Amino acid sequence: MCGIVGYIGDKNALPILLDGLKRLEYRGYDSAGVAIVGDDLRVIKTAGRIANLEERLKSETLIGTLGVAHTRWATHGIPNDNNAHPHFSESKNIVVIHNGIIENYLEIKKMLIHEGRTFRTETDTEVIAYLIEEFYEGDLLKAVKKATEILEGSYAIAVLSKDEKDRFVAVRKDSPLIAGVGDGENFIASDIPAVLPYTKDIIIFENGDIVDVRRDRIDIYDKNLNSIKRTVQRIDWKIEDAQKSGFKHFMLKEIFEEPKVIREAMRGRIKNGEIEVPEIMLDSEYLKGISQVYFVACGTAYHAGVYGKYLAEKYLRIPAQAEVASEFRYRNPVIDGRTLVFIISQSGETTDTLAALRFAKEHGAKTIGIVNVVGSSVAREVNKVIYIHAGPEIAVASTKAYVAQVEVIALTIFYLAKLIGKLPKVQEDLIVKELMSLEDKAKSIIERSSEISDFVSTVKNIEETFYIGRNMDFALSLEGALKLKEISYVHAEGYPAGELKHGPLALVTPNSLVIAISTFTPLRDKTLSNIKEVKARRGKVLAVAREGYENMNEVADRVFYVPKVMDDLSPIITVIPLQLIAYYMAESRGLDIDKPRNLAKSVTVE
Ligand code: F6R
Repeated sequence: MCGIVGYIGDKNALPILLDGLKRLEYRGYDSAGVAIVGDDLRVIKTAGRIANLEERLKSETLIGTLGVAHTRWATHGIPNDNNAHPHFSESKNIVVIHNGIIENYLEIKKMLIHEGRTFRTETDTEVIAYLIEEFYEGDLLKAVKKATEILEGSYAIAVLSKDEKDRFVAVRKDSPLIAGVGDGENFIASDIPAVLPYTKDIIIFENGDIVDVRRDRIDIYDKNLNSIKRTVQRIDWKIEDAQKSGFKHFMLKEIFEEPKVIREAMRGRIKNGEIEVPEIMLDSEYLKGISQVYFVACGTAYHAGVYGKYLAEKYLRIPAQAEVASEFRYRNPVIDGRTLVFIISQSGETTDTLAALRFAKEHGAKTIGIVNVVGSSVAREVNKVIYIHAGPEIAVASTKAYVAQVEVIALTIFYLAKLIGKLPKVQEDLIVKELMSLEDKAKSIIERSSEISDFVSTVKNIEETFYIGRNMDFALSLEGALKLKEISYVHAEGYPAGELKHGPLALVTPNSLVIAISTFTPLRDKTLSNIKEVKARRGKVLAVAREGYENMNEVADRVFYVPKVMDDLSPIITVIPLQLIAYYMAESRGLDIDKPRNLAKSVTVE
C-alpha cells in the first residue's frame, strides 16, 4: 500500500526522501512522486517505479530542506502520472500525500465543484488538498484540523504549504504513521525502515494524532488541538535488518534468517525447561470457561491460523475455527464473552484484520494478537499482544513471519493447555526438547536449498500445480500454493489430499505438478495412496516428507526429506522447502520477486 515520507532539517531533502521511498518499496506501489519547498513549491511525479521518478528528476533542479514523498498503490483512478501523489490544492499553494481511503470524497468533491472548484485527478486524495485550502488562513495546523473534521475513512497524510517554510503537518487515522526524531532534523514515514539510516528514536502515532513537524521539535495534538505527549522509543534494529546484505532478494534473505527467527520467537518463552508465554496473563477462571477459539487473519497469517485450529483442537479440546478476516467480520458469527479470538498479523495494519478484531471485541470476545510490528494498530487494540520478534519483513511475500507466527501459536496453545491442566509434564518435556532442536533442523534444510533449485529447474515450465496434504500438512499446502502463485504467477491450489479425487483430479495431466506434503504420521499412508492416484494419471509428484518414510521414494518422482520432528511442530520447518520452491520458480522466470505485480505488503484497504 502507499508509502509516505516527510523531511524537514538542514540537509537537501530530495536524496533523503528518495532513499526513504526505496526503503518502503516493499509496501507495493505503482507510481511515485515528491514535493519540495524551496524558492517555490515544486511537485514531480510519475507512474511506475522509483527509478522512473529518478530518471525524471535528472532534468529538474529540486533544492530545498523541506519536502514530502510518496509511493502510490492505486485505489481511486488508474496508476498514471496525473493520479500519482503529491496532489496540489487548486491554487497550487498546498500539497498533500495520503495513504488510505477517503470514504466521503465524492460528497466533498461535489460540494467543492458546486462552489466552482475544478479538479485535476480521479483520486480521493485531491479533495484533502482542496479542503485544506478552503480552511487556510495562514496557519496550516488549524486548516488541517478543520479539514479532518470533515474527512471520513482512513488516512495518514502529510501536508506542505508554500507559505510556511518552517513546518509540515501530518495526521494519522487508521493508517500507519511514525516519526523519526533527529538532531536539528525530523522525519515522518509509514514505517520505521524509511528513517533507520538517520535515527533510531521513533514516535509511533496514535489514531487521531495531528502532528506539527518542525526542524527542532515535533508537537502532537488531539482533534481539538490540545497538546498531547507520545513517548520517543529507541529501537534496536540494525540497518542491515532492512538491507539485502548480499542476498539477491529480500525474500531469500528472509528465508535464510528463519533459523534465527525460530530462536528469537522462543526467547523468554522457555524457562528452566518449561513453556511460558507471560504476555497472556489471563485469569484462570476465564480460561477454564472458554467455549470456543477462533483464529482470524488474512493470507499467509490466516494459513498460520489454520495450523492453530488443528493444534488448539488437539491440545485444548475446545472447538476451534480459522477464518479469513473479511468473511468473519461480515458473517455475524456466534461469539460472546467465552470466545477467545486470536488475531494474527505481520504488519498489524491489515484493514480487514483490524475490522475483525474490533468486531470480536464489540461482541464481548477476548482477543490475543500474534503480531510482528511493534506498536502497530492490532498490537495496540487487542486485549493481549504476543510479539513474534521476526524483525522487519521487507519482501511482499511473507516467509519468516509465517514461521514465527506458527511457532508462537504453538507456544501459546501449549501454555494455555498447561494452564487449564491439559498438558502433562512429560509431554511438555518432550515438546520443549523438540522445540530446542528446531533451529538446527531449519539450518540443515536451508543448507540443502540447492536440492530445491535443481528440482525446480526440471519443472520450471509447469503451468498447473496442486499442493496436497492432510491435517496440518493441509494447512501447509495452502501456504505453499499461495507462495507459488503470488511470486511466480503459476496457478496453484492447496487441497486436502483426500479431496483431490472429488474434482481437481480431472485437471491432472502429464503437465501438472503435484506437491504432496506428508509429515503427519497418522495419515501418511493415506496421502501415499493419493499420490498413487496422481501417478496413475501421469502427473509429476514432488513429495515433501519426513526423513525415514522411505515408502515415498517408490511412488513420488522426487522426494525432499525434512528432518525428523514431532508432527505438531513439523509445519515450522516443513514450510521452508515450500517457500524455496516458490522462490526458485519465480527466479527461474526472471520475475520481480520482492515486489510481485498487483500486491502490497501492508493491505490497508478493504
Ligand atoms: C502473502 C502475504 C499476505 C499477507 C496478508 C496479511 O505472502 O504476505 O497474504 O499475509 O496480506 O498481512 P498481515 O499479516 O500483515 O496482516
